[in-house]
Parts: sequence; structure tokens; C-alpha cells
Amino acid sequence: MEKLSSTIYTPSRGTEVITNKPPTLPIPTFLASIFFPFNFNLFSAQMGSLTSDQLDGNSGLVINPLDPEEFRRQAHMVIDFIADYYKNVDKYPVRSQVEPGYLRKRLPECAPYNPESMETILQDVQEHIVPGVTHWQSPNYFAYFPSSGSIAGFLGEMLSSGFNVVGFNWISSPAATELENIVMDWLGQMLKLPKSFLFSGNGGGVIQGTTCEAILCTLTAARDRVLNKIGRENISKLVVYGSDQTHCALQKAAQIVGIDLKNFRAIKTTKSSSYGLSPDSLLTQINLDVEAGLVPLFLCATIGTTAITAVDPLKPLCDVAKQFGIWVHVDAAYAGSACICPEFRHFIDGVEGADSFSLNAHKWFFTTLDCCCLWVKDPSALVSSLSTNPEYLKNKATESKQVVDYKDWQITLSRRFRSLKLWLVIRNYGVANLRHFLRSHVNMAKLFERLVASDKRFEIVFPRQFSVVCFRVSPSAVMDKLKPKYENCHSQQLFTEEEAINEFNRELLESINASGKAYMTHAVCGGIYAMRFAVGATLTEERHVMVAWTMVQEQLEAFLTTNTPFN
Ligand SMILES: Cc1ncc(COP(=O)(O)O)c(C=O)c1O
Repeated sequence: MEKLSSTIYTPSRGTEVITNKPPTLPIPTFLASIFFPFNFNLFSAQMGSLTSDQLDGNSGLVINPLDPEEFRRQAHMVIDFIADYYKNVDKYPVRSQVEPGYLRKRLPECAPYNPESMETILQDVQEHIVPGVTHWQSPNYFAYFPSSGSIAGFLGEMLSSGFNVVGFNWISSPAATELENIVMDWLGQMLKLPKSFLFSGNGGGVIQGTTCEAILCTLTAARDRVLNKIGRENISKLVVYGSDQTHCALQKAAQIVGIDLKNFRAIKTTKSSSYGLSPDSLLTQINLDVEAGLVPLFLCATIGTTAITAVDPLKPLCDVAKQFGIWVHVDAAYAGSACICPEFRHFIDGVEGADSFSLNAHKWFFTTLDCCCLWVKDPSALVSSLSTNPEYLKNKATESKQVVDYKDWQITLSRRFRSLKLWLVIRNYGVANLRHFLRSHVNMAKLFERLVASDKRFEIVFPRQFSVVCFRVSPSAVMDKLKPKYENCHSQQLFTEEEAINEFNRELLESINASGKAYMTHAVCGGIYAMRFAVGATLTEERHVMVAWTMVQEQLEAFLTTNTPFN
């Protein structure tokens, strides 16, 4: 693959590289101009001009920005554009290769006064936006956690945008609320969540934008539940617990709800518990806090931590928390999806002891961003913290108390019709396919794991649980070469041996990513720097995994033969 940083791909021409030339659009400009009788070149040339206060003739006036036929025409164009993008997404450098500030140099300084055609805009998307896109949907994308797209998810998003309703309460769009109730019960059943988390069991689910919001809402509910008992003046006594592997969303939420940061506990995890939170460590910390007159409030347990996908043992943690009346939230942002497969369900055994549970369907459940599914056992706790009842929203349905008003389950008032996309995903693929997709990702991760294990120069650093493999070049493979550099720097007290091998792996990963052929990110846990190979992009197949592995080996060989980064 060639470097593409300054080149443009024409989707309809496959792998041909075209420099500084706009792509061929699905509908030729001359045809479009019949429907859109403006002078495209003129608009293009005048892009960014605010000097005039008159349109170039009345023909520039858009009479109806929601004209159905014009919508059909332009939407087809955009769909063709996206379909071509997916067809060729593997040809782009996975991680964008642009430099900071690249776009300001390419786009006009101010907004166009005259309208511009979709054709012109799409040309600019291809020419200026695509180079600055990191291609999360590339089959060679193995970074962070996946953002697995799908046709159903994408089209569900379109339907949702198409209706463009603002479903803050039931009456504002009954289908939006009721479909969300139903889909959250469906997914809860697929996960075998206890009935107490479902509407059918007096709990319930809500679709939030992100896990950050889910944690913030549940922490707010937990805070108020306790403060209502002990008095609001005691807020400085509340303590929040997680581990040193818990996502920073917890700390942010704690800051927002007014927890004294002295009372935020990121309990240390160790190799002996595979970096899961130890119930004994939790208990010890809670006892210390209680002795100090503090009030244990909230525990966030994680299934599939962000760095290395470690798993906190839910059942014993919930048992400890229960003794102190602590609200337990289970953050299964990435790995929760896998639990619809019977063989992975055991990872959330013990969830019956928790108060709330969330997963991001926009990570590994083929649903476009954003779609965080949150279930709570006691919706009234959320409602009593988050509800408001202004005059302009009063209505009979709310007063009847027969309906859910989701505005009271979340931070914002306005909300999107997100359940449509989740509904489409579940219906269009069925549980059978969804399980199959998830399993195939785990199997590809296992394949990569075997490939790493078969090359003595590499080692698996942390145990694989789901579809993420954490590996590195092992110290023994390169230490003799690294030694001179290490000793050099060591005399200046720059590197310990562990830092030297970490630095080596860091540089190797950077060279892999700079190649544009694959994209992986890293984790540091227990002082060890590991490369993370996260399988989950929808288009990834075994052949992409094999190619990525060969490329990792080749990059290492290049390092070893050219003495980079030893000199
Ligand atoms: C375990 C975990 N929790 C929370 C988050 C944050 O998710 P969001 O961006 O939806 O807030 C992530 C993101 O990767 C995560 O891995």
C-alpha cells in the first residue's frame, strides 16, 4: 500500500491514486445542474465570501429546505458516496496522517453567502475531509475499542434523523418512548439481566448518549438517595470507589456531582487478580473510610476495562457493597455486548446484586454512535434526582403516571429517537447473527493471540478475555541490542531496563501506525507498555488479521536490521 497522506482516492476507481483531482461523483455535475440550476463553479469560486448581501439572482434561493424530491436526489448522492467509501475504506491510511491545523489551510475563512451544491460539497468532503478522517470502519482498524457499524445501524440512524423528533416526554412522540421501553427490555432479556432491571419487573432501561452520562446520572441518583437520609450538608463525607483501571468517566462524574476529590478511591489492582478489583481491597478501604467518619456511596465495577479488558468480580464486590448500602454500577461499555453469547454470560454473573448496568451499543453492538444502554433497578431514584416539571411540559399522559418521561432519566431535556437504530440492528440481524459476529471477532483475536505466541520475539502481556490482545516485543528478544542505548541513557538516568523496553515497543507501535496499514493503540498496566490489538471493526476478516500480524513482524525486522531505534 502506498502512503496516501497527500493523495486522494476516487472511490469509484478502486485503488487508483489520484493527486489533486476531485473524485467522480455518482451523479455527473452536468446532470445535477439540470435539477439545481445554479452555477456550481461560481459558487465554488465565491465560497467564503460574505462581502455581498445579495444572492446571485433568484435562482440561488432555496425555497424549501425539506423538499421531498430534492431530498431523494441529494440523499441518493450521499448514500452512493458512503457506499463507495465503504467499498474502498481499506485503501486509506487507517490513522489519519495529516498535521494539526491542516484543514484551516484548505477551507475558506468564512461561510459562503451563496448556496453551494451537494456535488461541490461532496467533492470537498472527499478532497479535504477524508484525509483528516481516521478510518474507524476500516478492516485494518484495531485501535481503542471498536465502533462497529452496520447497515441496519446506519439506516436506523437515518430513520431517526428522518423523523427528527424531540422525544423528551411520552406525549412529544409516544413511539420514541415506547419503542425504547420495548427494545431495552429485549436487550435486557438477551443479556439475561435479572427481571428487576426490566420494565416488566419494575426496573427499566434508558438509552443515554454515552457511558459518561450513564455514570453521571446513576451517581447523581445515588448521591441524592443518601443525602436525603443524612442531610445535604454532609456531601463532603461521601466516598466513591473504583479501581485504578476504572474509566476516567467515574472521576469526571464524581467531580460534577460534588464529591470531594479526597474521597475518590481508585483502588490499586495487581497482577495476582489479573488487574480486577479485589473485594478484600475494597472492604479494607471501606472500613478505613467508615472509621474516619466518611460515608461509602458508590462503586463502579467494570466488565472489560478500557486498558486491558480486565474483569472485576461482580458477585463478591456486590456482597461487600451491600453491607454498606453502596450503589453498585456495572460499567460493561465494551464487553457487555459479548454477554448475549451464553459462553460469555458468566462475566456478568452477580449482576443481580448491582443497582445499575450499562453497555455501549455503539462500541461492539453494530449500532452507530451514540447509544449507551443503561438499566436501573429503581427508576424512581433517577427520576427523583433528575426530574423537573415546568408548566410548558405539563400534559395529561404525564399526570396519569402511566407513561415514562425519559427527560427525567437523563441530563438533557431534548433527546433523539435512538431506539430505532437499536431496534433495526436487533431485528435485522437477529440474536443468531449478532452472536455470530461477536464470536467471529473473539475468534480472530484468538488467532492473533496464537500468531503472537508462535513468534518467540513477542509475548502476550495480559490475559485475553474478549477480542483484545495485549502484546509486546519481549525484553529478551531485543535487550542485547537495546543495552547500549539503555546504558547510554542510563548514565544520564533516563531509562531503567523496563522503561527501555517500554520505549522500544512505543516506537515500534508508532512506526506501525505511521505506515497507515493498520492502527493499534497501547495500554500501560503494572508499569508495562503493551500494544493493544482490538478486533471489532465490522469489516475485519481473518486475512486482515494475518496481514496486520505480518506487518508487525516486518516492522520489527526493519527495526532490528536498520538498528532503529537503537542508534
Ligand atoms: C470501560 C469503559 N467505560 C466507559 C467508557 C467511556 O465511554 P463513553 O465514551 O461512551 O462515555 C469507555 C470508553 O472506551 C470504556 O472503555
